[in-house]
This record gives sequence, C-alpha cells and structure tokens, in this order.
Amino acid sequence: MRWPLAFWNVVFAPSDVYRPDASKDAQWNRGAYLVEGAGHCGACHTPRSLAFNEKGTDSHSAAFVSGALIDGWFAPSLRNDANTGLGRWSEDDVFRFLKTGRNDHVVVFGSMTEAFNNSTQFFSDDDLRAVAHYLKSLPGDQQGDGAPWQYEPTQAASLQPAARQSIPGAQTYMAKCSFCHGADGRGQGQWVPPLAGAASSLVPDSSSSINVTLNGSGRVVAAGVPDSYRMPSYRAQLSDGEIADVLTFVRSSWGNRQPPVTRGDVKKLRKQTVSASSSPVILKTH
Ligand code: HEC
Ligand code: HEC
Repeated sequence: MRWPLAFWNVVFAPSDVYRPDASKDAQWNRGAYLVEGAGHCGACHTPRSLAFNEKGTDSHSAAFVSGALIDGWFAPSLRNDANTGLGRWSEDDVFRFLKTGRNDHVVVFGSMTEAFNNSTQFFSDDDLRAVAHYLKSLPGDQQGDGAPWQYEPTQAASLQPAARQSIPGAQTYMAKCSFCHGADGRGQGQWVPPLAGAASSLVPDSSSSINVTLNGSGRVVAAGVPDSYRMPSYRAQLSDGEIADVLTFVRSSWGNRQPPVTRGDVKKLRKQTVSASSSPVILKTH
C-alpha cells in the first residue's frame, strides 16, 4: 500500500533542489542545505500535523526544528529559545556536541544517539561549523519559552537527612543520582550533563526525563571509541512512584519550574519502552 504515498509526497515533500538564499553568506547556505535537506534533522526535531507531515521544512517557518515528541523522546528545539532550545549555546558548543557527542550543556542520549553514532560525527568540520552557524541564526519563540532560566541553589544539598525525607524525591536524588549529576544539579563538566537548566528539565513534555531514567542511554561511539560512562537504567531499581517523585524534584529544583511528573506518566512509558542496553546499536564501520 505504498502507492498513496505518491500523493502524500506531492502535497508534503518538496522535491525541488536547494536554492541558495542570496541575502545570506555561503556558510549559512551550506548549513541550511544540510539541516533542511540531507541531515534530516527535522524528521525528529520538527513537530508534525495530523497527516504526519512536518509543520515546517525550512528557515521561513517558525515551526521548523522547534521541538517534537517522537518514539518516546522529546527532541528539543534547535532554534534560539533561551530555555528549551540552543539560545544559551555558542556556535562552538553546537559544533562540539555534533562532533564529539558532548559539551558542557548535554551528552547525547535517546534517539539522538543514532543520529550521532551513524551520522553527525562523520560530517567534515567545515560542514558541522556550517550547521552550527545556520542553527544559531534561527530565532526562538520568546513568548512560548517563558522567563529566562537562572540557576537557583536548591535545598536538598544543604538539608539534613531527616529534613530531606520530607521532600518526595529529594532523598532518592541524593541516594541515587547526586554522585553523578551533583548535589547542586550541575553535573561534572562535559562527562555528566547538568540537570539544572537542561533542555530535558525545562521542556513541558517530561518524556525524555522519564525515558532516560527508566532505560538509561545506549552506547555512544565517538571516533571509534565506545563511551563507558553512561546513564544507568533504573527500570528494575525504582518504582513508577519513585521515578515520578525524583523527576518532580529534578524538574522543579535549581530554577527548573515544571509541574509534577505523575506515576501514570511513568507507567505509560514503562510499558512502551525497553532498556537501552537491550536494544542493538547499529554502528557504521569506518
Ligand atoms: C532520530 C531522531 C533525531 C534526529 C534525526 C536528530 N536528532 Fe537531534 N536530538 C534528538 C533527541 C531525542 C534529542 C534529545 C537528547 C539529547 O540531547 O541527546 C536531540 C538533541 C539534539 C541537540 C541537543 C539539544 C539540547 O538543547 O540539549 C542538538 C544540538 C541536536 N539534537 C542537533 C541535531 C541535528 C543538527 C540533527 C541533524 C543533523 C539532529 N539533531 C537529528 C533526536 C534526533
Ligand atoms: C553513573 C552516573 C549517573 C547516575 C548515577 C545517574 N545519571 Fe543521569 N545521566 C548520566 C549521564 C552520563 C547522562 C548523559 C547521557 C549519557 O551519556 O548516558 C545522564 C543523563 C540524564 C538525563 C538527561 C539529561 C539531559 O541532558 O537532558 C536525566 C534527566 C538524568 N540523567 C536523570 C538521572 C536521575 C533522575 C538519576 C537518579 C535516579 C540519574 N540520572 C543517575 C549519568 C548518571
């Protein structure tokens, strides 16, 4: 039944060749060509309409790469939203993330692992710089993004163990998460990402926070070297209620301000997903 796709393609999949925008420089046009076309970044990062078409396919649309939920992961905005997008990133941060899988803001996880393992790290440096240059030119949604995030020190670290027990999730955070992500939520340089101010903590959709806590993250292979220090899976160790509580704590501490994660949210993703270490990682040989 693939033939109806011919009609879908006519309506939704532009088949024109890329036409350079004369008002922009050559590096920007190279970046646009890669992100809008060959890189397929919008396949995950652009929200879709009812007919499953991407709501925007180029820089003229404010919906293009503005963030989307797909397969249990929220691929955040690649536009300049200060909180939920790349607004706080420099061009060099974008370059380092796509080349090495990590920077001081985030380490690759979820379905971005496939895009990194099999694709972005193999781009030439010039192409990655062009992608970064282009992405940093896309304006964010200032209203939708809310007040700019600012770090605020949170209680848990300074609380006495007895008092800590009164905040659901704080106890679990200190026992299971703080030695990697830090009692202050700021992570460890480029090795363990901060949860304070992370896109996954600031987007209203809690799927990525839940999914990575339930299932951990798949293997990242950068320049042929597998990364051994990964986010563990808590599927077997923590109940739905404990995961809901610890993520409610994470997503409302250190200046993060998202509403509570519910037990039902966790239960649903637990059913729909499997641990990352049990799914095969397909690697390109080189
Ligand atoms: C298969 C789906 C998928 C594809 C294709 C994909 N991404 Fe992603 N991307 C994600 C997900 C999910 C995340 C969130 C997890 C993470 O930060 O690693 C993400 C995160 C990112 C981030 C970090 C955002 C942040 O604020 O933390 C950047 C930058 C990024 N992607 C760039 C790209 C670019 C550029 C392309 C195209 C060359 C691309 N992605 C293609 C799924 C995808
Ligand atoms: C052994 C160290 C370690 C522990 C313990 C750990 N994490 Fe992680 N976590 C990581 C790493 C490393 C990543 C980045 C993805 C990767 O490289 O696997 C990560 C990523 C994450 C992310 C996504 C962050 C982003 O950038 O958007 C969330 C949310 C998260 N962890 C929550 C937790 C919670 C909740 C706990 C405790 C129940 C926890 N982690 C315990 C190492 C750890």
